[in-house]
This record gives sequence, C-alpha cells and structure tokens, in this order.
Amino acid sequence: MKTLITYFSFSGNNELLTNDIQKRLHCETFQIVESKKRKGFTILLDVLFSRTPGIQRDGKDLKQYDHIIFIAPIWAGKIATPLKSFLLLEKENIRGYSFITACSGSKAQKDKIQNELTRLAGKSPAMVTELWINDLLPAHKKNKIKYVTPYRLQPKDFAVFADKIEKHLEAISKSIVPTLINVKEQ
Ligand SMILES: Cc1cc2nc3c(=O)[nH]c(=O)nc-3n(C[C@H](O)[C@H](O)[C@H](O)COP(=O)(O)O)c2cc1C
Repeated sequence: MKTLITYFSFSGNNELLTNDIQKRLHCETFQIVESKKRKGFTILLDVLFSRTPGIQRDGKDLKQYDHIIFIAPIWAGKIATPLKSFLLLEKENIRGYSFITACSGSKAQKDKIQNELTRLAGKSPAMVTELWINDLLPAHKKNKIKYVTPYRLQPKDFAVFADKIEKHLEAISKSIVPTLINVKEQ
C-alpha cells in the first residue's frame, strides 16, 4: 500500500510524531505550511471564528496514495485549522485516510474529532488515534494547562506511545484490503 503522511505542527510535537511514524513506514511525508507565519494567539481566534487559514500548495497528487495518515494538533477540541484548510481543498483527491495526533488529551473529544474529519473530508477515517501528553505526566501535573500545553515531546516519550502507534498502523494496513478487492472486481 502506498502511504503518505501529511502533517501540520505548530510547536513541534506532531512533527516529532511524524518523524517517528515515517521511520516505521519509510513512506513520504508532506508538511502543510501556512501562507502567513502564525502567532500563538491566533489559534483561539481561528477556532472561535471557524476560520480556515491560507496554506501553501505544491501540487502533490494525492490520488496516487492508497492511504494518507494525517497528523496535526488538537486546538480547543477541534483539528488544527491548517489541516481543516487542507482537507477542504483536497477532499476529492483523498482515497483513504486516518488521523493521529499528539495532543493534551481529553476523554470526550475523540468522537467529535472523528465527526469533524468525516464532515471535512466527506468520508470517515479508517482510524483516529490520540496520543495524550497527559499520559506522560505525573499525577499532580495531569490536566493542568500550565504543564500540559507547553509540554514538548522528546524521543524517549515514544516508548510510551509505541503500542498505540502500532495499533494504528495495523488497523490502517487492514483497512486497505476492501479497496484492493474492489479494484480487482472492476
Ligand atoms: C490554544 C490551544 C488549545 C488546545 N486545545 C486542546 C484541546 O482541546 N485538546 C487537546 O487534547 N489538546 C489541546 N491543545 C494541546 C495541543 O494539541 C498539543 O500541545 C499539541 O501537542 C501541540 O502540537 P504541535 O507541537 O505539533 O503544534 C491545545 C493547545 C493550544 C496551544
């Protein structure tokens, strides 16, 4: 299966996650780059006003990939707005996809993310996986914005996330089978 990782990262955590998965799959990666350099305070403005920021285009043909793994942060319970912009522009070209995020972590948000992705891409993801920074922190720092939001992942943290990442990759490798059968039947 031909896989592409398409990612956005503002402060580096999801870029590190991209690098970890790239090393496992040896696949191509594509970075979503915004047209204007983002300042931190605009994150909440984007979410508040449902904005879709401008992103740079490089003409990559997504149709050649069986599966795209999207990687991006969660902002205020939603997928980071640059990924939202990308999905709206490219949804017709996406054959199969999944989403994985390194985020703070909150019990109620996974279904919302799944629904948002389905709405934006026009089809549901094969798998959604959240890697919680909360799971890396000692009890007294969990769920406290002053510790969780500024946390920057380090390579050693991926030992904690390894099982979830492997499960994600296993699920997407299975998700491609029906597509191959359909192709054969045509
Ligand atoms: C303004 C803001 C809002 C956030 N809201 C959420 C949230 O609702 N849920 C969550 O799990 N993480 C939330 N986060 C945490 C980020 O998803 C997390 O820090 C992520 O790892 C940052 O990724 P990056 O370093 O690749 O940009 C928020 C972060 C910021 C800055």
